[in-house]
Amino acid sequence: MTATTHAAPGEKTPSQRRVDAFAFDVIGRINQAIVDHDMTYDEYDAVKQWLIRVGEAGEWPLVLDVWFEHTVEELAARSRHGSQGTILGPYYLPDAPELPAQTALPMRSDEPGDRLVLRGQVRSLDGTPLPGATLDMWQAGADGYYSGFHPSTPEGNLRGRVRTGEEGRFEVQTVVPGPYTIPIEGPCGELCRAAGWSPWRPGHLHLIVSAQGHVPLTTQLYFEGEEYLDNDVASAVKPELVLSPAEEPGGSDRRRFSESYDFVLEPARS
Ligand SMILES: [Fe+2]
Repeated sequence: MTATTHAAPGEKTPSQRRVDAFAFDVIGRINQAIVDHDMTYDEYDAVKQWLIRVGEAGEWPLVLDVWFEHTVEELAARSRHGSQGTILGPYYLPDAPELPAQTALPMRSDEPGDRLVLRGQVRSLDGTPLPGATLDMWQAGADGYYSGFHPSTPEGNLRGRVRTGEEGRFEVQTVVPGPYTIPIEGPCGELCRAAGWSPWRPGHLHLIVSAQGHVPLTTQLYFEGEEYLDNDVASAVKPELVLSPAEEPGGSDRRRFSESYDFVLEPARS
């Protein structure tokens, strides 16, 4: 241990002790990595400049969500019951329009991509259906771009808050989302190239499922056969979250798929 910032526990608050312990551990492990990898001054300067560029480019949320959030989520999942969750990621926007239980996400009249119908039920842990639950959904289009983050995609495209109907059921028409890379023009892309890492995420639907008196579930749904399921740059894929949609006959210029998926929410602890 070569960190020199650790002070002996004195009259610290519990919060200060926790910050002290975590920060001391992080600093110590980074110092140890510098030793283990025999870092030169040139390499130290390159890392320092990269860290500065991450800040200047506004990519710290990206760094945290891609390379660290999955571990926090896995820790949180250890004490959670009900459906599997995964990371939120950096592309959520609040206040999407409210939509009824049988609906289509807002999309362009000529929205590219194969069509997908996702239907299912939201239930409580004891099996009680949850009418009036909300599925806050957002996704990239078939081109891999999110509305609100790419100039070619109309505002609000493929985003909506679906309210479940009787028996907690829902049926949402959308498109099959395309895979995408994390932004590769900035320092995160630079790191991927320097390290030879894939910058890709497999196509996925994002959801936050919530209902009164229950713990909200943040999750993503993936698609069997996708190229990047096994090397997701964000390490967010779980087997329980991979769909195998059935192809429906009669698709004309576009293929049509449908899938059923139920969400089980854990009651909130009082
Ligand atoms: Fe995403």
